[in-house]
Amino acid sequence: MKTIKFKNHDEMPILGLGTFRSQPNEVYDAVLTAIKEGYRHIDCAAIYGNESEVGDAIQEAIKQGIVKRENLWVTSKLWNNSHGQENVLPALKKTLEDLKLDYLDLYLVHWPVALKHDIVMPSKGDDFIPLSELPISETWKGMESVLNEGLTRHIGVSNFNTKDLENLWDKSNHKPEVNQVEIHPLLPQNELLEYSNQKGIHLTAYAPIGSGGNAEKSISILENQTILKLAEEKNCSPAQIALAWNMARNISVIPKSTNKKRIAQNFNATAVELSNEEIKEIDDINLSHRFIDGKFWEFEGGPYTAEGIWGAK
Ligand code: A2P
Repeated sequence: MKTIKFKNHDEMPILGLGTFRSQPNEVYDAVLTAIKEGYRHIDCAAIYGNESEVGDAIQEAIKQGIVKRENLWVTSKLWNNSHGQENVLPALKKTLEDLKLDYLDLYLVHWPVALKHDIVMPSKGDDFIPLSELPISETWKGMESVLNEGLTRHIGVSNFNTKDLENLWDKSNHKPEVNQVEIHPLLPQNELLEYSNQKGIHLTAYAPIGSGGNAEKSISILENQTILKLAEEKNCSPAQIALAWNMARNISVIPKSTNKKRIAQNFNATAVELSNEEIKEIDDINLSHRFIDGKFWEFEGGPYTAEGIWGAK
């Protein structure tokens, strides 16, 4: 499988298994099935509430001799209530304990949004801490320190816009190596991609097949006419077309599935090749549609708005 190469020569497989919204009772089988299928990259997060089950499956795969730890790429994310330099280490230690690992391959700041330490999910404006009080650069010091301790091999961010990255850039010793954001044919993120390429930041696409879709067919990736036409022409599935398009742009993808057939189908998207014309056809769909709209961070009297989070495009 094609890999993303880092400065220290580590390589991240361009396709991994997503685990957002994978139920704890399903994720064990999903991860074990995926590793058996050939997946070597698993994307996790503390807030998904299933890292312990993911960890059990990884352990089982290692025990069965299917994979060695060093041949797996495991990503996790720092939750919003653990921003602040001193909170990063305890949060990462809990994630490592749940995943039953000594180190992560990649640790990301999940959102440029800070919550008070005892709040997991906000219900009012007062549950937040504004970034003016607790800047990302403070949290980043904690990220650099766990990197230096060897508890993660790489550090990065998620849901960051170019302004957030600019703010952090000069205040960081070790620059973010990855930004994980929503990217799919309805939201190509061309400007963020161009900026990231200039800065040497790798983009990972979450919700690469549209996060389970939307009630309206007009804004579904898997029902999109261009995607359907290409899938028919190339004798593959619409999901495979969407994944192949991101990978052709050197963007890694982490499709979530807990279904055996779809886990295998998504893996086989690595074999789908698109011509420049086909890539262009998909580029032209661009509806600027977000499935994860960030409005859940908006509360009366609170410091965050979706518009502010997605920021300068
Ligand atoms: P399931 O877990 O039942 O397969 P995303 O990764 O873009 O967030 O999308 C995840 C959603 O898409 C889940 O609802 C998942 O359901 C579904 N899904 C995953 N793979 C495929 C596929 N190949 N075709 C259709 N739907 C898929």
